[in-house]
Amino acid sequence: NIKIVTIGGGSSYTPELIEGFIKRKDQLPIGEIWLVDIEEGKEKLDIVGNLAKRMIKKAGLDWKVHLTLDRREALKDADFVSTQFRVGLLDARIKDERIPLSHGVIGQETNGAGGMFKAFRTIPVILDIVEDMKELCPNAWLVNFTNPSGMVTEAVIRYGKWDKVVGLCNVPIMCRKIAAGSLQTEEEDLFFRFGGLNHFHWHRVWNKDGEEKTAEVIEKVYATEGGLKKAMQGLKSSGVQNIPNISFLAGQIRNLGIIPCMYHRYYYITDDMLKEELESYEKGETRAELVKKTEAELFELYKDPDLNVKPPQLEKRGGAFYSDAACELISSIYNDKKTYMVVSTRNNGAITDLPDDVVVEVSSIITAHGPVPISWGSFDASSRGLLQLMKDMELTTIKAAVTGDYDTALQAFTLNPLVPSGAIAQTILDELLVAHKKHLPQF
Ligand code: NAD
Ligand code: G6P
Ligand code: MN
Ligand code: MN
Repeated sequence: NIKIVTIGGGSSYTPELIEGFIKRKDQLPIGEIWLVDIEEGKEKLDIVGNLAKRMIKKAGLDWKVHLTLDRREALKDADFVSTQFRVGLLDARIKDERIPLSHGVIGQETNGAGGMFKAFRTIPVILDIVEDMKELCPNAWLVNFTNPSGMVTEAVIRYGKWDKVVGLCNVPIMCRKIAAGSLQTEEEDLFFRFGGLNHFHWHRVWNKDGEEKTAEVIEKVYATEGGLKKAMQGLKSSGVQNIPNISFLAGQIRNLGIIPCMYHRYYYITDDMLKEELESYEKGETRAELVKKTEAELFELYKDPDLNVKPPQLEKRGGAFYSDAACELISSIYNDKKTYMVVSTRNNGAITDLPDDVVVEVSSIITAHGPVPISWGSFDASSRGLLQLMKDMELTTIKAAVTGDYDTALQAFTLNPLVPSGAIAQTILDELLVAHKKHLPQF
């Protein structure tokens, strides 16, 4: 029987994950699920862990759920280790968002200075987890959901020297649903190719007659004022958007010729995105601050002893379809399903504009030996340089996270297109270093 360990088990997303496992009960002979957290998350772990137990019981399953603060005990002989932790919890995210914004610079969980600091806090922890895995469960797969998902996955391979890792995100799933909706067809009748980095990928789409539909999707959704907002509202996650839902510049996207992800708006229409973020900042309603309220509401619901399913209110969080990625990936590896999925994995030639040994987010076939990335080929000049710059920014960020070297961190800030360079980069860096001191022992 399979032993699954989830690190950051106290996350409000845990019911999403449990639902995904329950849905796949006939494919996955699960014996035990261990939810691991830390002292600060103990109360959350107890509440959501007990809901997980009730969900499993309601489904008539005899899986044993363990709630623990002892990571090493949990990791012993694990088959799959999934990670969904947030070092410093949401209060750290508030700082990631508000400190750059206080200087008139994009403040976001996975992009710009905030995302880089999330990497600085997270990478030392994931590398510790990998060391424990080498000793306690050397055959396990690490399924990483912790953001910044691409950089964390790259750190595991590059510095942890651990290859059995896959990085996940729900954005490609949303992109597929948006395309299918706009073409009024089923996702299964479309073929997609994704290429790029986590929260920085593009895709193309074909129908079952072999015709490329990329330009049509661009026209209907991405080059239409309000088109993306409308398409997102058609998804089940529409309650609250986790990033401002404003429109791209039509001509630029048409010229691009491939479909950007939602996060590309931070780079393509930085001024509009910043304006929206600054308005939220002034009102004390950055995404992190809103999520903190949502989280409190969710945990109130989770406490109800009569609740034994995932409540619909979880859709207010940005992680909709999370379990479709995580649980399907685990099932695909376990059953050698050869599923076609978008994951963060080693490039291995899929994108010819990047080295083989860097992590990219690409369409892949998921086998028992992990993801096999599908060839994307090369990018046009309209995206190639930006992609290479972003990869180098990621590599430099990861290096700073591992070494704790101030000048490397400053270099990463300088490379990041969302951080203005010079004195302002240094000021934001210094303030974030002080604010997050407790979680940055390496600096
Ligand atoms: P959260 O603030 O609820 O944190 C989850 C849990 O992690 C908390 O209970 C916390 O106590 C615990 N934790 C913190 N440090 C830990 C450590 N060292 N070891 C074990 N547990 C630890 O976070 P959330 O909002 O539920 O998000 C969880 C994570 O998932 C975040 O990193 C977030 O960015 C990520 N996420 C990723 C995607 C994606 O597309 N890949 C989507 C949604 C969320
Ligand atoms: C999307 C992204 C995640 C991100 C999440 C934020 O799902 O893919 O990487 O963590 O949104 O959602 P939240 O509700 O925390 O703002
Ligand atoms: Mn994501
Ligand atoms: Mn810069």
